[in-house]
Amino acid sequence: MKVNIPFRRLEEYSANILSAAGLPEDDARLVAESLVDANLRGVDSHGVSRIPIYVKRLQLGLVNTRPNVRVVKETGGALVIDGDNGMGQVVMQRSLELAQERLPSTSTVSVAVRNSNHYGSGAYFAKKAAAANAAIFLYGNAPATMSAWGGRERFLGTNPYTFGVPAGSREPMILDMATSVVARGKIIQADQLGGQIPEGWAVDINGDPTTDPEAALAGSVLPFGGPKGYGIALMVEVMAAMFSGASSGPEIGDLYDDLDRPQGVGAFFTLHNVSAFQPLDQFGRRMENLFEAIKASGPANREVLIPGEIEARAALRNQEQGIALPQAVIAELEKLSQDARPLAGDNPAMENAATRK
Ligand SMILES: NC(=O)c1ccc[n+]([C@@H]2O[C@H](COP(=O)([O-])OP(=O)(O)OC[C@H]3O[C@@H](n4cnc5c(N)ncnc54)[C@H](O)[C@@H]3O)[C@@H](O)[C@H]2O)c1
Repeated sequence: MKVNIPFRRLEEYSANILSAAGLPEDDARLVAESLVDANLRGVDSHGVSRIPIYVKRLQLGLVNTRPNVRVVKETGGALVIDGDNGMGQVVMQRSLELAQERLPSTSTVSVAVRNSNHYGSGAYFAKKAAAANAAIFLYGNAPATMSAWGGRERFLGTNPYTFGVPAGSREPMILDMATSVVARGKIIQADQLGGQIPEGWAVDINGDPTTDPEAALAGSVLPFGGPKGYGIALMVEVMAAMFSGASSGPEIGDLYDDLDRPQGVGAFFTLHNVSAFQPLDQFGRRMENLFEAIKASGPANREVLIPGEIEARAALRNQEQGIALPQAVIAELEKLSQDARPLAGDNPAMENAATRK
């Protein structure tokens, strides 16, 4: 069963939990906003269901609550940033700001980030870049949960790859994807909710296909597109780890299982100032025309979508209706919260909005 929670209430509630766990208020708000943003966009695997493990890692002192996120090397438009083991979202937000400060004078900035942690959904940062009239390519590495193509042991992460670009008066194009068939968070979610997963997402420890999420989590997720997805996951690994000096492959601490060390993940992104390449208005108009033409290219009975469109529509809907959270997630958040009011159903307006599914 799910209960709809107004997103602002969920943000405030989540921020309070994170600040009680030791994050400065602004950082707690940033992390909460990024997680709720994923829920708004329908990417529940990277939403507030991550708060319990974030809190656990904060309580264990595995994440630095006051990181000194700093540029350790700068050459032309290239920055190497040390995240000082801060929360992934905090490190990425600061890194994005550092890149944006430099963008007007250089047109393209490349940023390699090390000593970071799980940053959640890449779309949160891609939307910010697009809002600043920049395109972004973002690569992040992740704990080893996927075998190399033909390999036996888990070596690579679900290494997310995100691209964002403004599109005039339309929503930006946001391609935001794990390089596994689906993000592993979706398997974790199925495990938490007691469901099955479709065949083709993962194999068990013997390398046999499985629909059991528990067996899948013990085994290995599969890359999208066979060896091509593996190749892109490896490309992401090279950019995120080798350019930054971050941990790589099995060296990376698992968010859930390695509760004795920091994660040490890395990221790499390039920001491209649109107006350094084309007049902004003209670029926007051409992007609108491109997307209109693509959408018009489909059959009458089926809509052609632009990457990010499903999520942008979900966000509009969920801003109105609230975010449908499983009772199990609500119960976990309420257990962590010091707020005496329950998350669900504590004011009349919300009760009216609460729809049971
Ligand atoms: N931080 C991490 O370590 C980590 C690791 C892996 C994934 N992630 C995140 O997990 C999230 C989910 O990843 P996923 O791969 O499961 O996403 P997904 O498979 O749901 O979507 C991937 C992309 O495909 C696009 N898309 C889907 N259907 C489409 C259609 N019909 N037409 C056009 N475009 C379409 C979506 O808009 C999205 O951009 C992402 O936010 C990613 O950043 C994070």
